[in-house]
Amino acid sequence: MSIETPEELAALRAAGRVVAEAIRAMRTRVRPGVTTRELDEIAAGVFAGAGARPGPQLDYGFPGTTCISVNDEAVHGIPGKRRLRDGDLVKLDVTAELRGYYADACVSVTVGNASDATRKLAAASREALNCALETARAGTALNAIGYAVQQSVSSHGYSVCPDLMGHGIGRRIHEPPNVPNYHHPRFGQPLTEGLVITIEPILAAGSGAVRDAGDGWTLKTRDGSYAAHAEHTIVITDGAPIILTA
Ligand code: MF3
Ligand code: CO
Ligand code: CO
Repeated sequence: MSIETPEELAALRAAGRVVAEAIRAMRTRVRPGVTTRELDEIAAGVFAGAGARPGPQLDYGFPGTTCISVNDEAVHGIPGKRRLRDGDLVKLDVTAELRGYYADACVSVTVGNASDATRKLAAASREALNCALETARAGTALNAIGYAVQQSVSSHGYSVCPDLMGHGIGRRIHEPPNVPNYHHPRFGQPLTEGLVITIEPILAAGSGAVRDAGDGWTLKTRDGSYAAHAEHTIVITDGAPIILTA
């Protein structure tokens, strides 16, 4: 969606706050031995307290409040009885709907004493997101976002997962336009003031190709390499974007 009124901005900010709050609460509980379901229940508690609903369940019938993906799982992992282990890389991807408005964010968190390689991959997802946020303003071409992500990711020797991209958001989780994580020549249209999108680099230590894990939801890297993901929901302005999920 594109924001037309101050009320819409306020409503999106409120949804974004719920997402940020849920992620904060979840990440403090990340440690060896915790199950992904326990983390999901933390988010469910935050949502219930705020009167928010889980976007993935609402829009797609996803079996969980949040998507929790571990190690070689890139996106859409189903929370369950899996226990996190020392050295794991967990992605907490949270989408809330509050009074008809959606916000979406993700962080990659290392568990316990993770290797340098794992920590660096997580840090690269944050760096790619930050690089892309710096380019995202009214008048800039949409594909400048993907260009920035890809430059940042490849500077560390990692690959973006080309099948997975950011998106418009607001009244649904996924709205036009797609926001690829690589320079796509057909996405040269200018970003416009008020446009609400996610930026979400999804990268892998290996090739970036993904496949279905077999549960109908989870996408894993084909080569088994670890994946990292960082995401914010933003509003495009004449200057720096408004980060709704900070
Ligand atoms: N949070 C995901 C995204 O960033 C959307 C998950 S919806 C699901 O696009 F149903 F596919 F899980
Ligand atoms: Co998300
Ligand atoms: Co998203």
